[in-house]
Amino acid sequence: MSNSITGLTRRKLLLGTAALGAAATAGVLVFGQSSKAAGHIQSSNPLKIPPLDAGRMQGNTRIYDLDIQHGQTEFFGGMKAPTMGINGSYLGPVLRMRQDEDIRINVTNSLDETATLHWHGFNLPAIADGGPHQIINPGSTWSPEFKVLEKASTMWYHSHLMGKTAEHVWAGIAGMIIVDDEPSSALDLPNNYGVDDLPIALQDRRFLRDGTMPYAPTMHDNMMGKIGDTPMANGTIGAWFDTTTSLVRLRLLNASNGSIYSIGFSDGRFFKKIATDGGLLAAPVDVQLISMGPGERAEIVVDLSDGKNVTLTHFVRISQSEVSPEFAFLELRPAANSTTSKPVPATLATLPPLNPEAATNTRRFDLDMRGMMGMGMGGGGFMINGEQMDMKVINHTIKKDTVEIWEIRNLSRMSHPFHVHNTQFRILDRDGRPPEPHEDGLKDTVLVLPGRSARILISFNHYTDEKVPYMYHCHILEHEDAGMMGQFTVV
Ligand code: C2O
Ligand code: CU
Ligand code: CU
Repeated sequence: MSNSITGLTRRKLLLGTAALGAAATAGVLVFGQSSKAAGHIQSSNPLKIPPLDAGRMQGNTRIYDLDIQHGQTEFFGGMKAPTMGINGSYLGPVLRMRQDEDIRINVTNSLDETATLHWHGFNLPAIADGGPHQIINPGSTWSPEFKVLEKASTMWYHSHLMGKTAEHVWAGIAGMIIVDDEPSSALDLPNNYGVDDLPIALQDRRFLRDGTMPYAPTMHDNMMGKIGDTPMANGTIGAWFDTTTSLVRLRLLNASNGSIYSIGFSDGRFFKKIATDGGLLAAPVDVQLISMGPGERAEIVVDLSDGKNVTLTHFVRISQSEVSPEFAFLELRPAANSTTSKPVPATLATLPPLNPEAATNTRRFDLDMRGMMGMGMGGGGFMINGEQMDMKVINHTIKKDTVEIWEIRNLSRMSHPFHVHNTQFRILDRDGRPPEPHEDGLKDTVLVLPGRSARILISFNHYTDEKVPYMYHCHILEHEDAGMMGQFTVV
């Protein structure tokens, strides 16, 4: 247990959930500096920026070739860890695509075990979803095709193999996707990939002294989600990046197995949140701290015109008004002669008004953890509506083109990020209160705190399939693997 290279403990991570919501309402937060955590990790490695993969055109179809493979990755100290990646040894390329394009992704499985690859955030045919039913056998290639219906956004992809998602993502089978669209291309937002527009996959891992990070969850890991003591940005420990522009856009993805992050900057500076999971907000929102559960994305723009180095950090709340740094993810180092960026536009996108009256059905999803003593002995305990995932059971059948309200109630004592495939929904309210402006946008994952509830306005407008289901589940991967997942068809 104390094999950690950083000496951090997981002691305070769970408190991170307390920052949700309160961050935006509690006024200006005090950002403590006195943490061994942030100071302990030296910013010693240049940020790895995944290769950008725009595919290749064949007629009107954009085609990507992906290869899921075993690899060896050096994370620190000249030692190598066995890992898994896509077109590389750990994580995968950033796929870039445009709204309305037809795409095909050839996914070859070069592992010696089965895997899947799921396109998280997309409306797409069920057979193209890449969930637990779209198994790719070792040595074979799976070639889903779909039209990009989504607006400009940051999506992602990851293995979704029944019972092994946590292990696969921990090993590195995940990557990010950038979707562009016409309206957003006309906006003055930083969009120079790898210069002022950076994909940042946030993760934490637990390493042994030999530089490996085996996936061997304890009973506690199975219950809480596996949480590491070493933060990484795009697989880089102690990452730094030299910025050259006054504004920098970060496309943040919480790609961790089980950590809920409260993300801000080391000096407590405000920044602008410009996008939620599924696209741009109507207008930028000034925030000091944002809460992100596994699976969630947030695009932010930070102003570095003061020329000071600043570190993207996960904080924990130590009192109602004070937070303390826990994980330093990325140090931004502004160049002396940085160019001045155009200001962030005051209007970003047009979002249709919420219309709950249009809903013709309400479904309730009760998230619960029961019989925790049984954990590790068959992995029972995680339930949605008292049931566990069964590949043979369709839990819900939904009529296409109808609007529904889903009420998600968390009856357990820990937070759960509830994710739904094949849709971008809106948060109607949390415990009866309308969402904060910074999460009042397109979402596919909603973090529900212990004892709390959220209602989402949801619809499925594009595809039907009587047989092949989509998934809804908790995105804490150990919970998902332990059965906190269900299936629905759209007919
Ligand atoms: Cu990101 Cu069902 O998953
Ligand atoms: Cu998904
Ligand atoms: Cu959960």
